[in-house]
Amino acid sequence: MDCKISIVLVSLLSICTGAPRGGIFNPYEDGPFTIQHVHVGSLFQPSLDENLDIWAPTEAGTYPIMYYLTGGAMMTAGTTYSQMLSHIASHGLVIVTMNRLSMAAPSEKVPYFEDTMNWAEINLEDKLHGDGIPVDVHLDFKTLIGAAHSAGNHVLVEYLKHTCGNFLALIFHDPVDGADPMGIMDDWCITPGEFLNFDIPTYHLSAGLDPAVGDSPSNLGMSCAPAHMSNERFWNALNRNSPRWSVNATKFGHMDFVDPEFNTGGFCAANNEATDEDFDAYRKFVAGQTINFISAVFEDDCTPYLSEIENPSNYIVEGSVRVENSGDSCPTPYCTWEPLPSPAP
Ligand SMILES: *[C@@H]1O[C@H](CO)[C@@H](O)[C@H](O)[C@H]1NC(C)=O
Repeated sequence: MDCKISIVLVSLLSICTGAPRGGIFNPYEDGPFTIQHVHVGSLFQPSLDENLDIWAPTEAGTYPIMYYLTGGAMMTAGTTYSQMLSHIASHGLVIVTMNRLSMAAPSEKVPYFEDTMNWAEINLEDKLHGDGIPVDVHLDFKTLIGAAHSAGNHVLVEYLKHTCGNFLALIFHDPVDGADPMGIMDDWCITPGEFLNFDIPTYHLSAGLDPAVGDSPSNLGMSCAPAHMSNERFWNALNRNSPRWSVNATKFGHMDFVDPEFNTGGFCAANNEATDEDFDAYRKFVAGQTINFISAVFEDDCTPYLSEIENPSNYIVEGSVRVENSGDSCPTPYCTWEPLPSPAP
């Protein structure tokens, strides 16, 4: 059977094998794959400078990889997002996060990201197999999905400005530009009014409370995602040709989809009315929307997935959506790139 590309997203699996799906596909619940988490500490890997956290299926197969660049320009540990990321992985992806403490400006962290991807391509499969992931689980380094939270997006965009690499789809969660919340350090990946030089299918999630100031005095009155540095700055800069979706979770805040123990203290504005169940629903929403987008891009029939993204009445939390270039045909996995315009003399 002819599959658009040989990856093991859950319904692709059933398309390729002709097997019926076990139960009804529900992106907002865990998928059919059993996930194992593996931590790789840089201390014990001479050629690796980042701490990695990986969520991988344990069933035999070759899986696409989603690199998830964490907040604080990759200073946040991947395990901060373990519920959301293992949920995504359980639908048939390997998720890789990386982190280290470094006060380098976000743009200067692109080499960290590149070095880690190079290390992973050579070493990660063996490392995972040594840590209990079955040897018939393989990673497809030719099928990469780039995703990030907060200032992780700054690093990811800066990378894509220099090359598409093997990235075929892009996911922004609450993207933040700049290097500090006051915008004092001069380090930006986007210039308002200019378009980015890469064209890739893109899903953008904003939270309604991103620009609001959290309750804790420790934030010195600053927001975690000031309006001029965050969401619209990214959305407006996307290539006019890119098929793209922007979803706003109107009631939630910048950190509201991380694991519960990391969303305390009010450093970032949070949804103060939400119950534990509401936060759980939000984590499932963020994961499920990510799965919908990836499925829409990689599978032949995008209709069921796009209808979940494009109809806020189907959302499991309150939200709204904007769509550009969804058009008559389904999005495909691609990335095209043009050299940056040379600076004016
Ligand atoms: C998201 O929704 C909130 C609440 O309606 C609004 O204040 C905010 O500007 C919206 N954000 C974006 C990026 O559209």
